[in-house]
Amino acid sequence: MKVLLFNGSRRKSGCTNTALEEIAATLNKEGIETEIFFIGIDAVNGNINTLVKEAGEKCAGADGYIFGSPVYYASPSGEILAFMDRLFWSHGSVMKHKPGAAIVSARRGGTTASFDVLNKYFTINEMPIVSSRYWNMVHGNSPDEVRQDEEGMQVMRILGKNMAWMLKCIEAGKAAGIEAPVLDEERRMTNFIR
Ligand SMILES: Cc1cc2nc3c(=O)[nH]c(=O)nc-3n(C[C@H](O)[C@H](O)[C@H](O)COP(=O)(O)O)c2cc1C
Repeated sequence: MKVLLFNGSRRKSGCTNTALEEIAATLNKEGIETEIFFIGIDAVNGNINTLVKEAGEKCAGADGYIFGSPVYYASPSGEILAFMDRLFWSHGSVMKHKPGAAIVSARRGGTTASFDVLNKYFTINEMPIVSSRYWNMVHGNSPDEVRQDEEGMQVMRILGKNMAWMLKCIEAGKAAGIEAPVLDEERRMTNFIR
């Protein structure tokens, strides 16, 4: 089993990455493979199609997903929003019914608003959301400061354990013949114009 972790910061080895590495280490201890995918500047410099194609192919081979973002002006980064808009539009089907979670990193404020925005990609795509204690955030301006946020780091480890548990439950369910639900009625899309 594999979990793909996305880093939506401009800083490859910054605070968001520090939190993602803590989750990845916990997942690895639980026997789950991980890969951290750095979104970087390609989401906003005209290369998003290539970036999303590469990420989408990786998504198809993964069983669970963590999306991490720094807080910019009380929102997720523009990079991760551009990336998730395109990724969920073009590759949402390969993530459907697989668990997802979001984490955010901030110096001080805007965390829960940013966390809410990221979680909505999962709920529109029939993805079970994995939770932790409190909400999935760390505080700091540097990796060192994030590592000093003992509660935040613990929240990341608990998230990793809960993700591992959910993946194992889904696998056990499949082995027992329980498959994801299939829509057995025509899809309805109304635009409130009649
Ligand atoms: C453009 C910009 C806007 C930011 N806005 C906020 C903010 O609204 N609230 C906050 O607490 N920190 C804010 N910060 C600080 C970052 O969220 C914080 O340092 C974060 O941990 C950085 O994560 P990273 O190292 O993964 O990029 C901002 C940083 C930048 C560069």
